[in-house]
Amino acid sequence: MRVLQVCAEIFPLLKTGGLADVAGALPAALAQQGVDVRVLLPGFDAILADLTEVAEVATLSAPAGLQGRVAARLLYGRLASCAGVVAYVIDAPDFYHRQGGPYADAAQRPWGDNHRRFGLLGWVAAQLAQGLDSYWHPEVVHAHDWHAGLAPAYLRAAERALGRKLASSVYTVHNLAYQGLFPSGQFSDLALPEDFFGVHGLEFHGRVSFMKAGLYFADQITTVSPSYAREIQGGEQGCGLDGLLRDRRDQLHGILNGVDPAVWHPGHDKLLPARFNQGRFTGKAQCKADLQTQLGLAVDANLPLACVVSRLTSQKGLHLVTQVLPSWLERGGQFALLGSGDAELEAAFRALAQKHPQAVALHIGYDEAFAHRLIAGSDLIWVPSHYEPCGLTQLYGLAYGTLPVVRRVGGLADTVHDTRLETIDTDATGFVFDDFHPAALHHALNKALALWTRRSDWRRVQRRAMQQDHTWDGAAKRYLWVYRWAAGLTSSS
Ligand code: ADP
Ligand code: GLC
Repeated sequence: MRVLQVCAEIFPLLKTGGLADVAGALPAALAQQGVDVRVLLPGFDAILADLTEVAEVATLSAPAGLQGRVAARLLYGRLASCAGVVAYVIDAPDFYHRQGGPYADAAQRPWGDNHRRFGLLGWVAAQLAQGLDSYWHPEVVHAHDWHAGLAPAYLRAAERALGRKLASSVYTVHNLAYQGLFPSGQFSDLALPEDFFGVHGLEFHGRVSFMKAGLYFADQITTVSPSYAREIQGGEQGCGLDGLLRDRRDQLHGILNGVDPAVWHPGHDKLLPARFNQGRFTGKAQCKADLQTQLGLAVDANLPLACVVSRLTSQKGLHLVTQVLPSWLERGGQFALLGSGDAELEAAFRALAQKHPQAVALHIGYDEAFAHRLIAGSDLIWVPSHYEPCGLTQLYGLAYGTLPVVRRVGGLADTVHDTRLETIDTDATGFVFDDFHPAALHHALNKALALWTRRSDWRRVQRRAMQQDHTWDGAAKRYLWVYRWAAGLTSSS
């Protein structure tokens, strides 16, 4: 089956969050399942620079509203840093060659022409389904998050105009809260049929919603965990789209993300000072000692070291952490954070680090290599999210024997099993709490500290955590099943 993955970022070339990790790992896992997979990406500098064996597929004659000053070209090649995946890249310098981030400028203001920049991405996906590349066309277009949300809409529009099916579409929600909303006046730039701007289409409270376009027009919808698939059908987490998601519940599937063992495996992670596995923990002890030294923390194997690796946004619930930290430190705990984002949170953590230099360390910024060393060298990783579609850092924690402390929500609920008397011999892999309240996190940390004093039990839970199977194989099989269903090749599970 020929499948086109459409997304805005891809690890290791361009990453703002877990979406890139998924986009980087899924193609190879699908290829293992026999899928003929290609990716379509905007031509950001890092992506163009990595493209090898480049050929020009076409000069694009996009609708006027999606044109920059210079006509865009569609390039074809292989991304050397992404295991040589075959890629189509949209070379549109007016849109993608900019100082700043992929979605916003250096001051975090969204680019004013985002509807055009990402409209073009969806439009090109539909062009490929119409045979823009005479050598290859997709049977399934798989679009990720709002950036690619218009792909199913353009596909539907082209099919209506031609009166025949071109390709099936699958849309994956990685985070329903980021919706790609634009003023209604920008709809005309997109050159979609007039009637698409309506309740039965991509209109959302008078605005254009790229997210709703994906949810409304795709043949099948997936999101990144079974729990999140349920949660977004309710008012609390539905971000105003829960009604539509309930209507489409028979086409909505929760498929957990995996861990790419080529990137995150403690046994052969070259970014670590020492490697380890479930049979040999000396390497982990060395990672911890190195980390404590590097961060200026007291170098002591007996002090439990907790970490957070995260975007600092309200989604991640980190104000709970600032509130429980004083008592964690009083009881001998250490804490290290890698992240950036919200200025108030940064300031709160900075104040704690200044007050407790031997016990709290802060690394503000984005640092892939340090994320590996931090997760490997810590004993616990805290992910107290308010909501979490899947979450990857708790999965990396499990793989590295760094026990996750998580809130029972979304993918966190689906991947971490609480440690209790009755689970310690069966399925305990971490610590789970319910209420979005510091007292609940505090209680979970009490349990973690209790286990910490029983080192052989700690080791048992650690080993079980490391044995969890979160490879991409299982996810790829499920996606393949959804593709088949979207393409009408199968009708039920
Ligand atoms: P989200 O996509 O909501 O940010 P995930 O847990 O799915 O959350 O994915 C986050 C990804 O980004 C992980 O790969 C994590 O290691 C990485 N990450 C987050 N913050 C940083 C940072 N400051 N430095 C390096 N990596 C980070
Ligand atoms: C989003 C979600 C995160 C998920 C990631 C990859 O960024 O916030 O929970 O793991 O996408 O699917």
